Amino acid sequence: MPGEKEWETYFSPRKTLVALGLKKGMVVADLGCGYGTFAIVAAQIVGNKGKVFALDIDRKLLRVVEKRAHEKHLKNVIPILADISAGKERELLATVDFALLANIIHGTKSKFRLLKATADLLKPNGVVAVLNWKVEKTPRGPPIRMRPTEKQTVRWLNRAGYVDPVVLDVPQYHYAVVARLSRS
Ligand SMILES: C[S@@+](CC[C@H](N)C(=O)[O-])C[C@H]1O[C@@H](n2cnc3c(N)ncnc32)[C@H](O)[C@@H]1O
Repeated sequence: MPGEKEWETYFSPRKTLVALGLKKGMVVADLGCGYGTFAIVAAQIVGNKGKVFALDIDRKLLRVVEKRAHEKHLKNVIPILADISAGKERELLATVDFALLANIIHGTKSKFRLLKATADLLKPNGVVAVLNWKVEKTPRGPPIRMRPTEKQTVRWLNRAGYVDPVVLDVPQYHYAVVARLSRS
């Protein structure tokens, strides 16, 4: 990942999260949160009645998230050191309204395992939003051969038990697929 400031020039976290359906009061899990680019803005959108669990495997990045939340007086950001594919976050099971997998799935070995572990965190009517780099030339991002297409992402989501996938354009270099769990 490039530096924090450069990273934020590749998309608008606020516009993106609103377009993906994030609303006041929701409980969010930002899985592989990095610098908290989305987690911090998500915390502002969901407000005091909502909260954002920011999970990452990198302790240093979690410290960045903590610092940013502190600077913005956000008390609803909860950083958690975790391997998001391992599915060990028992305290989060079935508590999440909105799970975000931003810029993460392309580098994950078992997409199925990650999407299943994510499903376990979601409430019965919860949604997942998968944000990926477009499969085209962009100024940054992973090698094109590693980037999943919209169709592949939808297929993985369906296999992992999600339904009603909707594909959205996320200017300028990303797209997202939003889907919900099929259990009710
Ligand atoms: C490209 S960054 C994306 C950060 C953030 N989602 C965003 O879009 O701004 C990928 C992040 O996923 C984290 N990550 C990778 N594998 C992980 C895993 N198994 N468990 C938790 N975090 C992971 C990395 O440490 C890194 O912060």
